[in-house]
Amino acid sequence: MRLSTAPRFRGRFTLPGDKSLCHRLAILGALAEGDTLIGNFSTAADCQSTLHCLTLLGVDVSREGSAVAVQGTGPAGLKPPPGPLPAGNSGSTLRMLAGVLAGQPFSTVLTGDESLCRRPVERVAQPLRAMGALVTTVEGHPPLTIVGNRLHGVDWTLEVASAQVKTAILLAGLQADGPTTVREPQRSRDHTERLLPAFGVPIEVAGSALTIRRQEELRPLALRAPGDVSSAAFLVVAALIRPDSFVRIDHVLLNPTRTAFLDVLRAMGADIQTGLQVTAPEPVGWIEARTSRLHGVAIAPEKVPLLIDELPALAVAAACGEGDFTVQGAEELRVKESDRIATLAEGLRKLGAAVEEFPDGFALVGGRPLRGATVSAYGDHRIAMALAVAALAAEGETRLEEAICASVSFPEFFRFLERGVSGS
Ligand code: S3P
Repeated sequence: MRLSTAPRFRGRFTLPGDKSLCHRLAILGALAEGDTLIGNFSTAADCQSTLHCLTLLGVDVSREGSAVAVQGTGPAGLKPPPGPLPAGNSGSTLRMLAGVLAGQPFSTVLTGDESLCRRPVERVAQPLRAMGALVTTVEGHPPLTIVGNRLHGVDWTLEVASAQVKTAILLAGLQADGPTTVREPQRSRDHTERLLPAFGVPIEVAGSALTIRRQEELRPLALRAPGDVSSAAFLVVAALIRPDSFVRIDHVLLNPTRTAFLDVLRAMGADIQTGLQVTAPEPVGWIEARTSRLHGVAIAPEKVPLLIDELPALAVAAACGEGDFTVQGAEELRVKESDRIATLAEGLRKLGAAVEEFPDGFALVGGRPLRGATVSAYGDHRIAMALAVAALAAEGETRLEEAICASVSFPEFFRFLERGVSGS
């Protein structure tokens, strides 16, 4: 993929449904009795992996345009799959489904691509074992073999804040005898706890502790999924860093556990407005962003969990601003789809930015002119999109290798980027 400097970036966008939300809607829909209808379903390859795995578990999934109908079987209606469940590149698919499968009266193997098979899964295996399932990993990595069982509740404190693991425990808790409580060291995205009541499942929230009980019946839901706010981050940054630029994103998810990056960008000097139009079960509204003079900030460790997916986009904003931008306490970035500290630092450095890596973060000195170069996304969708946005501000041509992986979360990305660059 070849990218050139963009004189400006302008446009109004509506994005496919939020990836995090659509995984959960599909899984909870499968566990409900009857049809769950999800409008504007995510086009992300990751969410297709979830739908495919559900189909292999005997769930009927159909599509009409961008809408997906999941014909729920109830927790007791899932069937043993014909072979290993392929989660592709999707950590969410693998970890969340592990929670469902732990309570099933059959064995399953969950696997994925090369990148997924390098990612840590003991964090999800351990609580599921404590609840009574037999779970084995390959030295802490997928494939994950799950021999389901009649589960019992646990009181589990996560070592690392992870919405995927929290979700897995709650999904197992739905099928367990006795209460299941999950506690997080720091807050992570809260979609599961927002959606469960919408599916008719009571959930108790006491500070950072969430408690759920066995539920025989979930009721189906109809919802138009709001646009993916993590995808929006790349378009927002593109508008901030180019002259004479403006974007508006309509019908986008504005859940505060996902929009922390907007607060960071504002603290960096960004001109961003948002408007809330819907509040339940998820906040939805619009975002507008305009050309801004940006400066670096220091991101403290406790802020990291709610920014984790947007740190690559924020680094690009910082590279195009002035002063120091530092991130600490983000060692989780090293076990994402790639080692994002290493791949981001390499790509931005090649484009001319000054980046210093730490074991748990990085420091970037802004203000250096970027120039086109050959960079690689290393098969990581968010690195591909971050480097592509940086290329818009780089002088001359950038060759982005392995750019195709953007479709893992945002297949329309390059088309939308093109639209923004040619927008008037
Ligand atoms: C997600 C949680 C985060 C995030 C991922 C999506 C989710 O992962 O990075 O892109 O939908 O729950 P962790 O749970 O590993 O932090």
